Amino acid sequence: MSSSRGQFSSKTGFILAASGSAVGLGNIWGFPTNAAENGGGAFVLIYFVLAFFLAYPALMAELIIGRHTKSNMVSALQQISTGKKAKRIGKYTGLYGVIIATLILSFYSIIAGWMLAFLLEPLLTITGFPEISAWLTAFGNTRNIIFSAVFMLLTTAVVSAGVEEGIEKWSCRLMPSMLLLMACLIAYVMFQEGAIAGLKVYLLPDFRQIGDPQLIASAMGQAFFSLSLGVGTMLIYGSYLRPDENLPTMGAIVTLVDSSIAFLAGLLVLPALFVAQENGVTIYNAAGNLIAGPDLIFQTLPALFHDMGTIGIPVGLVFFSLMTIAALTSSISMLEVPVSYTIENHGASRSLATWLIGVIIFSSSTLIALNFDALFTVVVTLTTEYSQPLLGLMLCIFATWVWHRDMILTEIRSGHPQVEQSLFWKIWPGYVRYCCPALIILMFIQNVVG
Ligand code: TRP
Repeated sequence: MSSSRGQFSSKTGFILAASGSAVGLGNIWGFPTNAAENGGGAFVLIYFVLAFFLAYPALMAELIIGRHTKSNMVSALQQISTGKKAKRIGKYTGLYGVIIATLILSFYSIIAGWMLAFLLEPLLTITGFPEISAWLTAFGNTRNIIFSAVFMLLTTAVVSAGVEEGIEKWSCRLMPSMLLLMACLIAYVMFQEGAIAGLKVYLLPDFRQIGDPQLIASAMGQAFFSLSLGVGTMLIYGSYLRPDENLPTMGAIVTLVDSSIAFLAGLLVLPALFVAQENGVTIYNAAGNLIAGPDLIFQTLPALFHDMGTIGIPVGLVFFSLMTIAALTSSISMLEVPVSYTIENHGASRSLATWLIGVIIFSSSTLIALNFDALFTVVVTLTTEYSQPLLGLMLCIFATWVWHRDMILTEIRSGHPQVEQSLFWKIWPGYVRYCCPALIILMFIQNVVG
C-alpha cells in the first residue's frame, strides 16, 4: 500500500504544506484578538514560550509517528502499540481525532465563507450592485450556507487532486502569495495615523497579567490550534515526508514559520484597530475592553476600510484575500485527515472519499449554521479547548509510553544520522514522556475548573 501513497516531492513542498496547515485564521485572527483580550505583550510572551516548549515537542510526536507508520492516525496508533488493549485504545483515539478534525472543519468553513463574502463585497460595490454587497456583509443563514459551500468546494477540489498535485502544489502557490499580501498590508498600515498606539498595546507586556490562568489557558489553546495538533493533521503530513528528511529540523521550521506569521499578523491587526480609532471608529466595547472576536474582523476593520475612501477598496480586498488564502491552506489539511482514513482503511478511491466527506462536512456545517446560537460556540469549545489538548496528551503518551524508544531513534536517524548526540535527543524523549503530559493535564484542569 505504501508505494501507492502520496508523498511530498521536496523539502520545500513539505514545509510550505505543513506551514500552510499551521498558518490560518488562528494566526491572523485568533492570535491578535487573543493578544488584545489578554494583556497584549504578556500574552505574546507566554504564547511563544508555550509554542516552543509544549507545542513543538507534541508536533514532533505526530511527525515521527506519522513518518514511521506511513498511515493515518487510526492505523498509526494501532501499529505502534503492542498488545490488544493498547491497540484498541489507539484505534479509538485515532477515530476521535478523525471526528474532531471533521467537526473543526465544519465550523472553520463557515468562518472562511464569511471571509470569501467580505472579499467579494468591495468588488460588487464598485461594479454597482449595492444590494448584493449589503447581503454579503449581513449575517444570514443563506449567505452563511452558500459561502461555506463555496469554500468547501475549493477545499475538496484541492484535496481530490492528491498529495503532490493538490495539497503540495496549491500550498506552494498560495503561501508565498499570502506572505506578499501580508507584507504589503503591514507596510501600509504602519504609516497611518494611530498605528504606533496599537503597536504599544501589542508589544508592551502588562506583567500583572502574566500569571493569569485565563491568559495561560488561552495561550495553550491557541498554540494547539495554531500548530494544527492533536487530530492527526501533522501526523498524516509527516507520513507523506521522505525518510531522508531531518524531522527535528522540519518541525522546528514549521513552528518558527507559524509563530512568526502569528507575530506579524499582530503587527497588522492591532495597529489597524488604532488606525480605525483615529478615523472615528469605536474600538472599545461598553465594558471598556478592546473589541475582539468576530466584531473586530467583520465590523471594526470593514468600518476602517470604508472610512478610508477609494484606497479602502483595494486594502479591504487584499485583507480578505489574505484571510481566504490562509484559511484554504489550513482547511485542506483538515480534510486530508478523514480522507486519508477513508482511503487507507476502507479502500475508497481518493476522489470518491474526498467528495463524499466534503458533502458530509458541508451537511454538518449547514446544521451548525442553521442553529448558530445553540451550536457554534459549543462546537468550537468542545473541539478546540477540550478535545485538542486531550488528544495531544494521548499522542504524547502513545509516542513515549506505548511506543519503543529505539524505534523512535531509528526513525529520526534515517534523516538525521547524528541524532543521538544532539540536544534534541537528550531532552525530547523524557520531556514528552513526563513534562508535556503534566503540563497539559495541569492546564486542562485549570481550564475546566476555572
Ligand atoms: N492551524 C490552523 C489555523 O491556525 C487551523 C488548522 C488546520 C487546524 N488544521 C487543523 C486546527 C487541525 C486544529 C486541527 O487556523
